[in-house]
This record gives sequence, C-alpha cells and structure tokens, in this order.
Amino acid sequence: MFKALLLAFVAARAPVLAYQLQARNAISNDKYPFCNPAEEPNCIAGGKYLVPPLDFSLEGDIGDQAYNQYLPTRTFTLSQWTNSKMPEPCYYWGVTADHWNPADFVVYNVTFSDCPASPWVVCWNNHSPKTINQIATQISRIPVGMRQSTSIYMVYGDSESDNPLFKGYIATLAADGIIVGRSAGFFATSLIHETGHAVDSNLVSPNAPHPGSGSAFSSTTAWHNAVAADGYAVSAYGAGSYVEDFAETGRAVLLDHIYPGGLAAWSGHNPNLTQITNQLSTFRSVASQYYVTGGWCDLGKKFPFPTDLVSV
Ligand SMILES: *[C@@H]1O[C@H](CO)[C@@H](O)[C@H](O)[C@H]1NC(C)=O
Ligand SMILES: *[C@@H]1O[C@H](CO)[C@@H](O)[C@H](O)[C@H]1NC(C)=O
Repeated sequence: MFKALLLAFVAARAPVLAYQLQARNAISNDKYPFCNPAEEPNCIAGGKYLVPPLDFSLEGDIGDQAYNQYLPTRTFTLSQWTNSKMPEPCYYWGVTADHWNPADFVVYNVTFSDCPASPWVVCWNNHSPKTINQIATQISRIPVGMRQSTSIYMVYGDSESDNPLFKGYIATLAADGIIVGRSAGFFATSLIHETGHAVDSNLVSPNAPHPGSGSAFSSTTAWHNAVAADGYAVSAYGAGSYVEDFAETGRAVLLDHIYPGGLAAWSGHNPNLTQITNQLSTFRSVASQYYVTGGWCDLGKKFPFPTDLVSV
C-alpha cells in the first residue's frame, strides 16, 4: 500500500524525491522488509541496513524529539503577495502536475532572522490545516546552511477529499529547490530528510534547469563507494536507493552535531554504528558545514528567489 503510493508519486514526476512515513514492518519475517533485493534490484548494500535501527523517521519519535529540542526556531516576518501572481514553479507543480485549484493558494514571502536580505516563498493552500505561522516555524528550525538549498515551500491539504488527484505525501523537487507536500508532513525530522535532498542536489548542480532533474552528490562514485565500503545502508528507508540513503545520513550527521554526546549518545550507544562509518565521513567531507545550528545564510550559495511569475 505505502509502496504503491510511493511509486505512483515518483513515477508521476521524474525529479521528485519522495519520502513516505512508514512504520517498520514488525510482523514480517523478511529480514529486509523495506527493500527486499529479490523484488527491488535498486536496493543498495544488498538491502542490508544498520540494526538496531536509528529511530528518526516518524513524528514524535526520539529523533524528531531531539530535533525539536536542539534545533532552535528563528523569528520571521511574513509578507503576503497581493499582485495576483505566483512563482511559476508553484503553478507548474501545484496546479498543472498536482491538480490543486490556483485560487486556493496564498503566496507569502517569509524572511527569517538568520537571512534578512533574502526571503523564502511559501505557496500555502487554504486546505492546509497548519497555518502559515505553524509552517514557517517548522521551516525555521532547519539550519540555515541546509535551508539555503531551498527557495520555495508548497503546502497542501491533508485529506484525500481536498484533491482526490493528489496521492503524495511530502517530497523534494531538488533541482527546483522546492519542498512540497501535505501540511502533515511539515515536522522536524521529515523536513530534515527532505532538505537533505535539496542539499544533495545543490552540492553538485546548483543551476539545474527547471523543471529538470539536475544531478546529485549521491549519484557520484564517491558516495557509492562509501556505501559499498560500509555494506549497510544507514536505515531501512535508505536501503531503497543511494539518494534516500544520503538524506538519511544527513539526519544522523545532524544528530551527531546537535545532541549532547553525539550520535552515539542519542542512539543509546548503538553497538553497530561502525557499520555506517564511511557514509558518515563521506557525507561530512562535502556537507558537514551546512549541518550545524546558528550562523547566517550565504547569499552566494542560497537557491535564487523565484523571479519567473505567472498570473493567477
Ligand atoms: C549488529 O549487526 C549485525 C549485522 O546486521 C546483527 O546481526 C546484530 O544483531 C546487530 N546487533 C544488534 C545489537 O542488533
Ligand atoms: C518578496 O521578496 C522579493 C525579493 O526580495 C521582493 O522583490 C518582493 O517585493 C517581495 N514581495 C512582497 C509581497 O513582500
């Protein structure tokens, strides 16, 4: 069921990197319930992943709690667009691809206190149960070095009846610097994972054409070699592909940076952490500096503010 939804979402829009919340399949006897190599040839590390699993996938789990505790929110100001326009990517994805009604979007500039010279844009759909303030508060937790790999957030309603044609949950259109999904998906650990996709893309192809797919660090031999050297993906979800595994590694690196005592302490001294050593060190070698709290945006690296607008 979840798998089918995931595939449907990805197939509908090639550059999408999707994330589905998925509880571990406790009743299955399958050793690798998320990515069985017999059924999924794209499993990495032979479908093996670190166990005991890192508990950082679901709202309210110990990873999500740690992000909420140790990633400070930032203040922000909102400025609602009144020019009857929206960024072209919001129209392209939200209306043309995902079939939401253009009249139901409210567009905001959100200027965070750690980047006063350049706002982000939120295209907020009025079916969203979370208010723009709640959404902006969640986004503000994302360390600015990571956040600057995004420029647009699209926030949809949570019910299937809001728009029966939309089957997704939350995803990243990495080449466009967009995080898009249901308001329910806007919580800390979900956004850390999704932003990891934007970082992955921005590291290698910051100027990918819209709506192209660009490239990503997780496609490089450096990343593939790190996974091969370890022989275990960072998580069950990460075992699904190199790109998901990269985003999952970012969660682990961020916890290592923010949690007192690091990843070892956060994980209750998981005895198998050495199984992901090469992925952690390779990730750090390219992205460590973005996975820290504090500081300011770097306008030279920030994904450009969207200037291509359409009338609605
Ligand atoms: C450590 O990993 C090995 C290989 O996956 C596994 O057999 C073992 O049970 C794991 N240790 C713990 C405490 O889960
Ligand atoms: C949003 O921000 C852009 C870029 O700084 C600016 O040009 C535009 O006037 C702002 N719009 C509103 C409604 O604040």
